[in-house]
Amino acid sequence: MSKQIGQAAISVKDERETAKLAELLAGMSSPGTIIALDGDLGAGKTTFSQYFAKAIGVNGVVNSPTFTIIKEYEGAAMPFYHMDVYRLSMEEADELGLDDYFYGNGATIVEWASLIEELLPPERLDIYIEHEGEAGRRFRVTGIGELYASWCTALNEIGAGKNDDRN
Ligand SMILES: Nc1ncnc2c1ncn2[C@@H]1O[C@H](COP(=O)(O)OP(=O)(O)O)[C@@H](O)[C@H]1O
Ligand SMILES: [Mg+2]
Repeated sequence: MSKQIGQAAISVKDERETAKLAELLAGMSSPGTIIALDGDLGAGKTTFSQYFAKAIGVNGVVNSPTFTIIKEYEGAAMPFYHMDVYRLSMEEADELGLDDYFYGNGATIVEWASLIEELLPPERLDIYIEHEGEAGRRFRVTGIGELYASWCTALNEIGAGKNDDRN
């Protein structure tokens, strides 16, 4: 059976708007949420993750997990699992038992997720972040599965009302 797919594209003009998007998605999240991030170095994957973590109530500093691969944080709403799989081979990633996190009690964000696509849960929110100038970014969002497709619907509705100066 083919999965339901949703799509949305959100442009932000600065880091503050990235924070707002991360807060919005954090508000939709629950235990088991999977957000798969891709985009060049410096696109804003870690920055997005940091605002997301803050929004689910993680206290203290969330560093880039480039060297630690996986970091686990206690959040107020739920735990936060932050991964950066850039340095992993598929074999290494496979041995880490990522499913314990993906199907655990927290929300997971994976940076460079497409490198381990075969290991990701089939239902998830994929986000590709692109530069639009110095501080602007475009978030190209694909929701796979009914729940995440509905997130895209919500994002599109919010995006459509974005130019009316309400922020
Ligand atoms: N709109 C924006 N959203 C996210 N980051 C931004 C934005 N504008 C500027 N930046 C800066 O871009 C850099 C992104 O770095 P980082 O989040 O580490 O990227 P990545 O994890 O994708 O390699 C940070 O220095 C951040 O302050
Ligand atoms: Mg990063």
